[in-house]
Amino acid sequence: MPESTQTDNQQSPIDKVLVTGAAGFIGSHLTQRLLDAGVHVIGLDNYCDFYSPQVKRANTEPFMGHDRWSFVEADIRHRDGVLHAFETHKPRAVIHLAAMAGVRPSIEDPALYTAVNLDGTVNLLDAAVAHGATRFIFGSSSSVYGNNEKTPFSEDDPVDHPISPYAATKKAGELICHSYAHLHSLGMTCLRFFTVFGPRQRPDLAIGKFMRLMAAGQPIPVFGDGSTSRDYTYVDDIVSGIMASLERCAGYHVYNLGGDHPTSLSELIATIEQVTGITANIDRQPMQPGDVNRTWADLSRSKAELDYAPRTSLADGIARQWEWLQTQL
Ligand SMILES: NC(=O)c1ccc[n+]([C@@H]2O[C@H](COP(=O)([O-])OP(=O)(O)OC[C@H]3O[C@@H](n4cnc5c(N)ncnc54)[C@H](O)[C@@H]3O)[C@@H](O)[C@H]2O)c1
Repeated sequence: MPESTQTDNQQSPIDKVLVTGAAGFIGSHLTQRLLDAGVHVIGLDNYCDFYSPQVKRANTEPFMGHDRWSFVEADIRHRDGVLHAFETHKPRAVIHLAAMAGVRPSIEDPALYTAVNLDGTVNLLDAAVAHGATRFIFGSSSSVYGNNEKTPFSEDDPVDHPISPYAATKKAGELICHSYAHLHSLGMTCLRFFTVFGPRQRPDLAIGKFMRLMAAGQPIPVFGDGSTSRDYTYVDDIVSGIMASLERCAGYHVYNLGGDHPTSLSELIATIEQVTGITANIDRQPMQPGDVNRTWADLSRSKAELDYAPRTSLADGIARQWEWLQTQL
């Protein structure tokens, strides 16, 4: 990253970065990495109650008082608030991670998902264009691949069959981003994250949820026969991929960021048992609508163009998440 002592005229587009969803799981890890790299970070988040706002406030607490950190508490659905944040802080680049995440709740309340994930994204794109940002990174998802039969999933595979409203909003987000990249001088990169885990993981996601229940001696709900699989990706690897795409952001690109080790649900539970030393009590449930059968990222393009290479094994990452979780129990 460039020296932060440069004057405004010489400023690199990546000296001042707005991170939406900065109080969340991935956003808080990314913010720390950007601050460590000498970047001025403007965090934007509404501390929504999808999960405990106290947890999110604890995520941003370490940044408060940092001289290169500014925070805007705002809802991306509110256009004026978003425009005001850009007018005040004039970020040169945007990393857009704020979203309603989660497949199953999107089936219950699709209108909330389109309002936040689509309308909110358009508000940010408009503000970025109006206030001279030149790079925009969109946090997309492996869920856009739906039940793609071909593995591993490549960025060139068709993604026209999402199987949940959440997945549909991510695909639609990629499309609206493409139109802005075409119409304006805005470098645009859409990153498809594959199931992210590590300390501060969203509490609705399997690894942290299983660990909490197992530690409390409670059964873990397991949907399906255990053969569904996910390409779990450690959060530090995702952050490295975001940093690399921020540096190279020009034109329009889509990249997979995965872990390179697709793992079945049964293997995942066995690894958690090994790391924690606790035997899981399995509460077998039917497959959930909206859940895909498998994910597996083809990383050829992100390796070639971003130098992306996931470094943390599933077992090591789970051990780090368990170590962190024990400080929270
Ligand atoms: N965690 C994963 O496995 C995963 C996988 C694929 C894609 N993603 C995407 O990565 C991004 C970050 O995910 P995460 O796991 O860190 O989720 P998270 O829920 O921890 O973080 C999202 C943040 O966005 C904020 N937010 C939500 N609605 C908002 C609004 N209307 N205005 C302002 N802020 C709002 C939330 O308060 C939260 O802090 C999301 O876009 C998600 O869809 C995550």
